[in-house]
Amino acid sequence: MFTKALAFEDVLLKPAYSDIVTRADIDLNVDMGRDVSLRLPVIASPMDSIMSPEMGEKIYEAGGIGVLHRYQSIEKQCKEAQATSGNVIAAVGVTGDYFERVSELVRHGVAGICIDVAHGHHDQVGRALEKLRDFCPGLHIMAGNVATLEGFDYLAARGADSIRVGIGGGSICSTRIQTGHGVPTFQSVLECSRSEYGAALIADGGIKTSGDIVKALAAGADAVMLGSLLSGTTETPGAVIKSASGEVRKIYRGMASPEAQLNWRGRYSSNEGVSRTVIFKGPVTNVLYELDKGVRSGLSYSGARNVRELQAKARFIIQTPAGAKESSTHIDE
Ligand code: IMP
Repeated sequence: MFTKALAFEDVLLKPAYSDIVTRADIDLNVDMGRDVSLRLPVIASPMDSIMSPEMGEKIYEAGGIGVLHRYQSIEKQCKEAQATSGNVIAAVGVTGDYFERVSELVRHGVAGICIDVAHGHHDQVGRALEKLRDFCPGLHIMAGNVATLEGFDYLAARGADSIRVGIGGGSICSTRIQTGHGVPTFQSVLECSRSEYGAALIADGGIKTSGDIVKALAAGADAVMLGSLLSGTTETPGAVIKSASGEVRKIYRGMASPEAQLNWRGRYSSNEGVSRTVIFKGPVTNVLYELDKGVRSGLSYSGARNVRELQAKARFIIQTPAGAKESSTHIDE
């Protein structure tokens, strides 16, 4: 009846023999399917406090890709797509104007479409996916989110090229509190990586460090989607805020938070996210540079030259609470 589910912090990778001399010997290229490939397996989340044309440009330069959020008019989203030179994916829903939105985004040359729904293992998502697959057979379609192998296969069978895996794990997410549903993202990735469909797997929600990125890739992800790690950077939308104590901060909020819903549709129904301010981090390029370095080091500890080798060589252990304590810095103040 009950199965145990592991989170990133429950596990570690065992170091293995390595003959890798420099981080430059490591190749982080991944093929996400249908004309989307990444040199850094990092994707910016379709959120109104994360993704902007500037973020899209910088992520693309670093080897990743961004997803433009859908909580804006079709016209504005198309303008943002244009400003990102066609090197961007754009999110859509599965009701209302979504089909018109896709037609316009395709006309504006997006690199892919992301069907962006909180519970992706859903009949409406399946039907929209089949319709869009027919409408744009050559275009990359990302879909999600799912937390189980059945959910992953449901979307893969209907033509998704890449699938966002993770429900309830986001740093700004209150889905598990409100609904009692979800699966730790690491466990979902492990489970979905057993899929026999060829769809690319995107670990989404709860990734806090480059170490978590390495664990996600080792568990079977092709790429990770990031919110909080990119939050508070110069390229995120919104102004910097100065707190009374002189701290410089920016807003980072869930798209299902009351604040975000009020902003994009003037009212809110279900409340499954929170809005917070985070410390201003400066240019996202610096953050991406650090993540790139950390992930490369991670592969070298497993003796892996690329993501596929990492997945083949990875040996996970489960940590005890004392081990987890030892794994974070623990010097006395
Ligand atoms: P983070 O990287 O841990 O901050 O998680 C970001 C992810 O949280 C996004 O990519 C979405 O999948 C998810 N997310 C965004 N907004 C919300 C929300 O309001 N509620 C629940 N999940 C959300």
